[in-house]
Amino acid sequence: MIKNDILLRAARGETTERTPVWMMRQAGRILPEYRVVRAKAKNFVEFVKNSELAAEVTIQPVNILGVDAAIIFSDILVIPEAMGLPYEMVEARGPLFRTTVATMADVQKLNIATENELSYVTDAIRLVKKELDGSVPLIGFAGAPWTILAYMVEGSGSKTFSKAKGFLYTQPLVAHALLEKITTSTILYLKAQIAAGADIVQLFDSWAGILSGPMYFEFALPYIDKICEAITEVPITVFAKDAHYLPAQLQHIKCDVVGLDWTMHPQRVRDLLPHKTLQGNLDPCVLYGDEKTIIHHTHQMLQAFGSKRYIANLGHGLYPDIDKEKAKLFVDIVKEYKHNA
Ligand code: CP3
Repeated sequence: MIKNDILLRAARGETTERTPVWMMRQAGRILPEYRVVRAKAKNFVEFVKNSELAAEVTIQPVNILGVDAAIIFSDILVIPEAMGLPYEMVEARGPLFRTTVATMADVQKLNIATENELSYVTDAIRLVKKELDGSVPLIGFAGAPWTILAYMVEGSGSKTFSKAKGFLYTQPLVAHALLEKITTSTILYLKAQIAAGADIVQLFDSWAGILSGPMYFEFALPYIDKICEAITEVPITVFAKDAHYLPAQLQHIKCDVVGLDWTMHPQRVRDLLPHKTLQGNLDPCVLYGDEKTIIHHTHQMLQAFGSKRYIANLGHGLYPDIDKEKAKLFVDIVKEYKHNA
């Protein structure tokens, strides 16, 4: 039994007394309390693998910011690692893979990730569930297959991901073989998260928007479709950043919630997807503004989405230099807002 299950009810399309709210990257560097715990680990990868520390920072934003859900502290890159491609997190630069995927032989060498390699995540989930004691739901997550492929082929972050995109054109069969393996791993991983206690799961397709519509429909959406078909136990959210051609197609996908970034038009997506719950989409940069600015833009967003089938969030993750008090202000504004009947 979850005491505050407002987010789950919104995800299932039930009426809620107010709009639920959480923030992508709510567990992170904006919280001084996070930085204290983070300093106890040798590096980011070790931090993620330490279930006790991961559980501790997962719960922090629930207590400090008052959000309506916790999201398990981990990273989307644990899947490549479990498949056999280890990653590092280079300070101020981001992810780095010393080995990348280029050929069919490389794909054949990769494992299907199982719960064994990822038990540190399911252990952290069990610790969090115990600690939360039913106060709010826990969100599990994974990267969407295309975004995971992008890192495995590119080897790092990139403005263009031209190497990863080029790979789709030069080696489409290898790309599909890799996407299949990532998809199988991701389904097993999400099911393990759910068995450990995740109440809802989210797929992050952070690099969706760099593909053209036709390429997305060939190399990304079919795998998201497979995952959504397989996850029947709890609601599932698809967040495909900057994918303007996508909402019209998502009506055919078995997801419950659709995440939107700030470039998406709430009412237009609502018209296309009347049977999905929408989540988003405040530009995190609004939180650099003063109180009046934050109230104005948050109210504008709440009005645009309306009171039904809606979960308030940012359009992407919090930036590390955002003031924690401003993030809390955003949460408070949403929680206090009364929609006109
Ligand atoms: O609070 C939460 O949202 C949960 C934690 C979470 C992290 N990563 C922790 C993290 C989540 C949901 C992610 C997902 C993730 N990781 C995505 C998808 C979401 C998105 O932002 O588009 C992506 C693309 C990654 C890959 C990744 N991890 C990058 C590009 C970076 C470097 C960027 C940066 O801010 O430095 C990371 C590192 C990372 N993952 C940090 C955190 C808190 C920062 C590193 C640190 O704290 O030392």
